Amino acid sequence: MYRFGISVPRSLISKFDSLIKREGYKNRSEAIRDLIRDALVRDRWSANDQVVGTITIVYDHHTKELSSRLTELQHNHGSSVLSTTHVHLDHDNCVEVLIVRGRGKDVQGLADTIIGTRGVKHGKLVATTTGKGLL
Ligand code: NI
Repeated sequence: MYRFGISVPRSLISKFDSLIKREGYKNRSEAIRDLIRDALVRDRWSANDQVVGTITIVYDHHTKELSSRLTELQHNHGSSVLSTTHVHLDHDNCVEVLIVRGRGKDVQGLADTIIGTRGVKHGKLVATTTGKGLL
């Protein structure tokens, strides 16, 4: 482990301390390590490196041709879509979670297309990492 000291305004560190306490961190070091990892993951996405993510969407399967459009999109990006889970929430609504892997821009583009498809009520991309090189 490499140790370093940082200077932070007192008001800032006291807000940070109460935040990380609420989030369950035992100490500042682990919280700061997670912030660093998050910055590195974001950098990988913008550098178009190999990334992993999940795309979660909620939609009404009665919307005309929506189910087949979504299936078509996933087939067209078959090498990026590792797994899909579909749950019928009620008579109308479905939730679908796609686990995706690929270049940052491709995965972001696929998420934008899926989430932007007419009839998708809500969607989110969770942008994470392959885990390589992130201790
Ligand atoms: Ni369904």
